[in-house]
Formats: sequence, structure tokens, C-alpha cells
Amino acid sequence: MAKEKSAIFIIFGGSGDLAHRKLYPSLFRLYKSKVLKDHFAVIGTARRPWSDDYFRETVITSLEDYFDDDKEIMEEFAKHFFYQSHDVNDSEHYIALKNLAGKLDDQFEAGHNRVYYMAIAPRFFGTVAEHINSEGLKTKDGYNRLVIEKPFGRDLDSACELNGNISKAFPEDDIYRIDHYLGKEMVQDIPNIRANNPKLEQALNNKYVSNIQVTLAESIGVEDRGGYYETAGVLRDMIQNHVMQIIGAIASDDPKAKEAKVIHKNKCDLFASLKELSPEEVDTEFVRGQYDTDKTGEKKAYRQEDNVAEDSNIETFVAGKIEFNTDRWSGVPFYVRSGKRMPDKSSRIDIVLNDKVKELGIRPNSVVTLLIEKEDGNSILINGLNYKDAGQDFIEFPEEAEFDNASEAYESLIIDILSGNRVHFTLWDELRSTWKYIDTIRERWDSQTPEFPNYISGTMGPDAAEMLLERDGNSWIWD
Ligand code: BG6
Repeated sequence: MAKEKSAIFIIFGGSGDLAHRKLYPSLFRLYKSKVLKDHFAVIGTARRPWSDDYFRETVITSLEDYFDDDKEIMEEFAKHFFYQSHDVNDSEHYIALKNLAGKLDDQFEAGHNRVYYMAIAPRFFGTVAEHINSEGLKTKDGYNRLVIEKPFGRDLDSACELNGNISKAFPEDDIYRIDHYLGKEMVQDIPNIRANNPKLEQALNNKYVSNIQVTLAESIGVEDRGGYYETAGVLRDMIQNHVMQIIGAIASDDPKAKEAKVIHKNKCDLFASLKELSPEEVDTEFVRGQYDTDKTGEKKAYRQEDNVAEDSNIETFVAGKIEFNTDRWSGVPFYVRSGKRMPDKSSRIDIVLNDKVKELGIRPNSVVTLLIEKEDGNSILINGLNYKDAGQDFIEFPEEAEFDNASEAYESLIIDILSGNRVHFTLWDELRSTWKYIDTIRERWDSQTPEFPNYISGTMGPDAAEMLLERDGNSWIWD
């Protein structure tokens, strides 16, 4: 476990859902494990005029949803929380924030370190970053790190604009763009698994791989996020970021690399080699869907969800075939798929090997599955069996590296932020390439009218998603 850290966190959007559901529980876990102990404070900001006491009560209430620790320890933790009512456009408020942060730094001896955490609506990211800079919130003696939640833009143009705004205020090295999938243990372990299993690594190229499948399936619908979802759709919500980052972990070169700069460069190179689609290819290589009610008619169709237009053309399901123009990967389809209201929650990578792997001593046509969320106690499967029982020995996963999904993705990302480790955050260059790719699909889709809804809740999405693979003589491994 990391040693004790010191910092003042300023959480913009401190009264919001993300802060209460993800950040405060993660900070509390870090408090219990003493990574955060005496030398930290959290300033929550939002428009509403809350008192410190009221803010602390809301923090404790949200912790009670996740933990059954004594209230005493929660109260001790909450003593580190302070509230500042804040209008993002009002310069005076930033000065008040600066003074409060300075005072708390003295009180808690926080080493002049600041973490500015954007848990607010994305349209405010740029304004807040600029004010932090112009109103002199940054400290001189410690670090100043800016943490940005997704969505980072909604297309290449808006992402460029946002990046321009925050880059005026913070150097790239101080910007931590969150993709919470990069905080998940299996995603973090992929480079180690590759580096420690030479046969598997030797097989990861177009000589031995038939195709790679990335599935991020959810059984839930859009819940109470209809308003946001109407501006996003699963292409922006899951494919542009989480799915691409998973592909980055499995397909970029040199998994042994340890330095953030090298790892990022390898990922940037991979994304820069995404094979562009023509508008016509979007029609043949990508499939979109929107959920209808379920078989019993009890569940709401997407178009019946709150804050969703009755004639919405937003997709809740995407399947597609992505390719890369590199020596290593050209010709290998990366089939990706993500959707709401699928039969189960499952986040997995299926690596389908071909018959040539025999020459590596691997049984022909084996499928290696990496489960991003452990399922039935398994994290790696070979041909559907726990890798230890599969009768093949080309994968070892050291016992101590096995994970239990217990630690929240956010917890590990916060430790990284406090340690200055940028490996598990996304670089602007990566986003530029992935947005460019996604924009082609989005633009094509926006110029057409889909026949929605086109899949029943609780099913695997529209039939066209199956046909996408059948056409190539392949099929989804998770079905
Ligand atoms: C978020 C998306 O980034 O990831 C949500 O906005 C989605 O729509 C969520 O439900 C899935 O994350 P996880 O960690 O539950 O797989």
C-alpha cells in the first residue's frame, strides 16, 4: 500500500452524484488504509449555500450506503471536509477558495499540494481551469494537478477546444484525464500478463490472432441519466474511451515498458494507426441499436425513459469492426460491442487465436479470455475454462497478482494522482485520434434515420451484430 499522502483536494461539483457515489467512498477507503491520514482536506464546491456541517452530513450519508464502519470513524474522516459555495464565473469566489485552501494547508500541513478535481458539467471545465490559473490558486512549493472526468468533448472539435482551454492553464504533465476503466485491476494487469507470458505475447499479432473481441455489456438501462445519454449514446459513452483504452492495453507495443512516456507513446502510435472508415464503410462495419421494452413489456423502452425524446435516434448498443494499419495488426479485426439492457453485465476481452499457434505449442484455435470484472471467481479463461484447469500452460498469472474487484477503480486512480503517476490516464494525442475515428461514424449516423427501437431489452442487441462477424466467418465468443 502506498505511503501517506498530503494534499488539499478542491472538488468542483462537490455536492454532486459522482462525488458522493465514487469519490468520497474512495477517499474514505484511502483514509482507512492510511494513505490519507492527517495531512489532507477536501473542499467541496457547488452553487448551493451549504454549511460545512451539512456537507459533512451528506458525505457521511453517502458513506453509509457503502460501508458499515462505526459512525465515529466516518465522523473523524468528515472533519477533513469543508464546503465553499461557488459560482464558476465569479472571480471573487476563486479568491475565497484560494484563501480557504491556504488556511487548510496550514492547518493540516498538506505540503502545498493541490488536486483540482472537475466533477462538474463538462461545459465548465475550461472556465474553471482558466480561473484557477488567473486567480492565482496554484501553489508554488507543491504540485498542482488538474483532474478531468469524462466526457472529454463530444467530438474532435469540441475536445480540441476544451483541450486548448485547459492547456492554457495547466501543462499537459499536470493534467489527469480520467477513464475509470484504466483504474480497473485487470486493465492495469494486461501489460504484466503479456510481459510475463512470452508465448501469449508471441501470439499477439496478425500471424496468430484470428480476431480480438471487446465486449462491455450492461444489463441496466440508462436509469436516471437519460438527459446526459441523449447527448452521448454508447458510441461516445463507451466506445471512444473505455473500449479504445482496453484495445490500447492489449494491442500496443512493448508491454514491458514501465515509463509513462513510453507507454503513452506506444498507445498514441497505435491509435494513430486506426484504419479510417469511409462513410460507406460505416454502414458495413458498424451496427447501432436502441432498446425496446423487454419480452414481458414491463421494462421501459429507451424512448420511454425520463428526459429522452419520444423519437430519439440515440443508440444504446453498438457493435463494430475496428482495424489498425500496423505491421503487427493489419488484417486482424477487433470486434467491439457495448450496450445497455443486454442479458448480463460482462466486461471482457476474447482473443481468438488461429490454427498456426500450434507452432508455439498452443492448441489451435484457442480462445484466451480476460475478464475485466471477475466472473464466477475467474479472471482468465482458456477456451471457457479457468486457465489453471484448461490443460494448457502458456499462461501463468501469479497468485499475488490475482485480484478480487474489491478495490474501486477510483481508489487506485486517486493514489496515482497523489503519486504523480500518469500511466493510467489518457493523453490528449490519444483522444485526438480516437475522436477523429469516432466522428466519422457519428457523422454518418447523424445523416441517416435508423429504424429504432431494434432490439428487445435483455437480448444481445440487433441481429446485424451477429451478422457482422458471420460475414467474416467468425462469431461472438460471449453470446
Ligand atoms: C461510464 C458510462 O463511463 O461507464 C456509463 O458513462 C456506464 O454509462 C459505466 O454504465 C460502466 O462502468 P462500469 O465500471 O460499471 O463497467
